Amino acid sequence: MPGVVCLNGRFLPASRAQISAVDQGFLYGYGLFETILVRAGRPVFLEAHLKRLEAGCRALGIALPFPPAAVSRLVHETIRQNGLADGALRLTLSAGPAPGESPGELVIFTRPLSAGPGDYERGLAAGWSVYRRNERSPLVKLKTLNYLENLLAKREAREKGWAEALFLNTAGYVAEGTISNVFIVFNGQVVTPSVDQGLLPGIMRRTVLKICCELGIPAVERPVAPAELVRADECFLTNSLLIVMPLVKINDRPIGNGRPGRLTERIRTAIMSGMMQ
Ligand SMILES: Cc1ncc(COP(=O)(O)O)c(C=O)c1O
Repeated sequence: MPGVVCLNGRFLPASRAQISAVDQGFLYGYGLFETILVRAGRPVFLEAHLKRLEAGCRALGIALPFPPAAVSRLVHETIRQNGLADGALRLTLSAGPAPGESPGELVIFTRPLSAGPGDYERGLAAGWSVYRRNERSPLVKLKTLNYLENLLAKREAREKGWAEALFLNTAGYVAEGTISNVFIVFNGQVVTPSVDQGLLPGIMRRTVLKICCELGIPAVERPVAPAELVRADECFLTNSLLIVMPLVKINDRPIGNGRPGRLTERIRTAIMSGMMQ
């Protein structure tokens, strides 16, 4: 349960941070969100998160109640008021009762992280979801409040003992996970589904591609067939909180040797050390 919540710039106990019953985020999932890693009391890649939020606002016709620099100050203040060193910060921008006429409702709170060190040592198992990502929908590229399909897919995965569910798109190619982007490694080359495959262009996905470029690791974005996962040497998932998480099983079949891969660990270490600077 969050401690201090920032609601439209006011800091309140969670029980008093309320939005309208006719808010269109509540009624229709009309809104956007960002989940941001907090390390040593600092929001990681905050600028990139705010840029994606602004792009989402333009696409959906939602106005931020404050300029991005003020939102950034509110994020820092929420971390400070919650005394958070390491954890997650959730920033939600709901469209409000009258999108287009009045600005959205901005809610910021913090919470603990869920993945532990053992997950990185063992790697996670995932399975294919029965739901498909619609690569033609404009919504898949945005981090909107419409997450019900993701939640249902994740629940189904948990029932089968998997930590994550992966979506194929309508053409049968790999799209993304319910909360993550997918990467595979073949003969030293890193491969990830291209954005046209129906996925959220993750901030950590972009960071991995940039780090590969800096480390001289070949990396490509292209359509990925599901059978490529079991043939891959390594596989990993990315998101802002997990950073780079090894994926060692898909539908109960091992990926590579069934253990976290060396290139995966090299990329993860490089990103983590970049975050410390
Ligand atoms: C569906 C989906 N795809 C990809 C990602 C990864 O995005 P990011 O790296 O920006 O956290 C997320 C993050 O939660 C997600 O929910």
